[in-house]
Amino acid sequence: MTSSRLSRRRALGLLGVGTASVAAGVAGWSLGLGAPGTPVSPGASGRPLTEPAEITSRGGLLRVRLSAAPGVRLAGRDTTAWGYNGTSPGPTLRVQPGDVLRVRLVNHLDQPTNLHTHGVHVAPRGNGDNQFLAIEPGTGFDYEFRIPPDHPAGTFWYHPHHHGTVADQIFAGLVGALIVDGGPPLGTRERVLLITDTTVDSAGHVATVDAMRRIMGREGGLVLVNGQHQPVITAASGALERWRVINGCTSRVLALRLPGQRLTQAALDGRFLPAPVTRARVVLAPGNRADLLIQPTEPGRYALLAEPYNRGSTMGTGMMGGGSVTSGRVTLAALVVTGLSTSPARLPAVLPAPSAPAGSVSRRRQVTFAMGMRGGMGMGGMRFTIDGRTFEPTRDDQVIRLGTTEEWTVVNDSPMDHPFHLHVWPVQVRATSGGGFPSGVQRDVVLVPARGWARLRIPFTDYSGRSVFHCHILDHEDAGMMATVHVRG
Ligand code: C2O
Ligand code: CU
Ligand code: CU
Repeated sequence: MTSSRLSRRRALGLLGVGTASVAAGVAGWSLGLGAPGTPVSPGASGRPLTEPAEITSRGGLLRVRLSAAPGVRLAGRDTTAWGYNGTSPGPTLRVQPGDVLRVRLVNHLDQPTNLHTHGVHVAPRGNGDNQFLAIEPGTGFDYEFRIPPDHPAGTFWYHPHHHGTVADQIFAGLVGALIVDGGPPLGTRERVLLITDTTVDSAGHVATVDAMRRIMGREGGLVLVNGQHQPVITAASGALERWRVINGCTSRVLALRLPGQRLTQAALDGRFLPAPVTRARVVLAPGNRADLLIQPTEPGRYALLAEPYNRGSTMGTGMMGGGSVTSGRVTLAALVVTGLSTSPARLPAVLPAPSAPAGSVSRRRQVTFAMGMRGGMGMGGMRFTIDGRTFEPTRDDQVIRLGTTEEWTVVNDSPMDHPFHLHVWPVQVRATSGGGFPSGVQRDVVLVPARGWARLRIPFTDYSGRSVFHCHILDHEDAGMMATVHVRG
């Protein structure tokens, strides 16, 4: 074997291509789904972290063309994975509160797609954040998002939302960061860390996913930060870094840790906490974001890890051979702290958290997430339902009066965790069966524990129109675990 073949094999190993990740499909799937091909060695790529190109608004307008097409580099290799404007993640879009964001989405894929501005509080109608649109292959569409002047400054993201293929399209690489600028200056250096997972075969094709993995929520063998495998972040001792971390994985829960350094959280889901909070680990469900403040101390090499996270099991759903579903341990990146001391930056004492919804609760409702086999035991088909039904775009599931504040109890009547996500309107967590949520903080994805519940307060104080809520394990969403809201003026 020539040395060039050897290095090619090594490169393939990095891509998480192995018998283990394939075999895990049937026999061994109680093990961590993401374990194969992601060795726990800091900085395996050895490459400095790069960030997606950034496109910034000017004079109140950001006009951008996003072309969705195959053919991007992932983990340093050419692949047929998908991206926007030739990269995965696509460009970072940076707007100011009050701006207009105009996106011409051009579909160069072989299937319909569309665009969603996850977490951003904008109108869901017409050519706004409208999930009922399908942009056909070979066509384009002009979106317009009007960011309100009082919009919170924070970290959001964009991704496709065409029902039935959302997981496939995100797994294939279609993601990008969306930043609403503003707020206090935090840190001496800011970075976007958009985390995705995928599985790429030896020919550079994104792997197809079998029915069982869709039921559990697929996890790719390759976990990437800005499309890179285990990149290196170099920071000076005493500096203060702001990391905008986005969990863009289709199903993987990221239980972030940075052993040896302090992990301080400043924001969740694009909304500031009242003050920075230092945590042993920060758990991000798919779709969640955290703004982390990292103030490196001792020089050395540290690993940014995602610890194993148990997402429940398929026991009791009637599925054959049910087992536990765990997001495996992975090293995301290495932090290299150099001794070059800069003038030490200070953590802010308080942060501009949005005020809690003021209105009194005018209506309470319960929505129930469940899963069960269609027609008894077997591998035939798992039904993923909300209130006993699968998604039907033309049906109004929850009709809401504009200008009211509601309290929703999301019940999880299944043995797996499901991250609840509502478009357009942020929610405030009041209580959950699992505890541990920072109460009062506004967010847009709430991990509802298996057989548990979460109580949310939702101000529908502006924007009429129809939108959706769903499980952000996107295989579940594509299988029907999504429902509509219709806010009527
Ligand atoms: Cu991030 Cu409806 O999605
Ligand atoms: Cu969303
Ligand atoms: Cu789910």
